[in-house]
Amino acid sequence: MARAPKVPPDDDVAGSPIRTLAELAKAEAECTRCPLYKDATQAVPGEGRTSARLMLVGEKPGDKEDLAGKPFVGPAGAMLDRALDDADIPRDTVFVTNAVKHFKFEQRGKRRLHKRPNAYEIDRCKWWLDHERTIVRPAAIVALGASAARSLFGRAVTITKLRAQEQRLADGTPAFVTIHPSYLLRIQDKDDKAHEYRQFVADLRSAAKWLGQQAA
Ligand code: URA
Repeated sequence: MARAPKVPPDDDVAGSPIRTLAELAKAEAECTRCPLYKDATQAVPGEGRTSARLMLVGEKPGDKEDLAGKPFVGPAGAMLDRALDDADIPRDTVFVTNAVKHFKFEQRGKRRLHKRPNAYEIDRCKWWLDHERTIVRPAAIVALGASAARSLFGRAVTITKLRAQEQRLADGTPAFVTIHPSYLLRIQDKDDKAHEYRQFVADLRSAAKWLGQQAA
């Protein structure tokens, strides 16, 4: 297997020799930028076409994603797929990725319990997300939850404050902020769950509608 290209030691993505998603996946597989690589099975690169106009950014791979090497293939992925379907956004038209590429967990007996990545891990991993953004050049990005928003905006943000309005990232890329689909999995009350789900679908629809207006 060809070796991954050497990346510059600083965070200068513009000066990086990585040009394709395949090169990026190879480089991510060798990542030691934060300690999460030590316990994870593998890095999970983003997935989708380089021509995708919409990029969805999640938090980090979960247990299933860590084993499969693909983003959003577990329970949160099933919820995302359902919402994308209800929002009339075919999943294969979007680029799906995460703010952090390695699974973070705590071992409890045989179970691996998800842990939230911290600001340091998110900021160290931004290097890879920036590469994905440079290669795919999406017309708009949707941040799914607080970790994705932290990575994209470079600071902690309150989802409810930014939700439902078009935002701009530092480089001018239009961005939309919504909840993470795993939040829906944790809501116990049936009515609350249904309400939050509808809101989530509406957020995804808004992003797609905005894209449609740009293309018109
Ligand atoms: N949660 C995420 O944020 N990303 C995944 O890929 C799966 C679950």
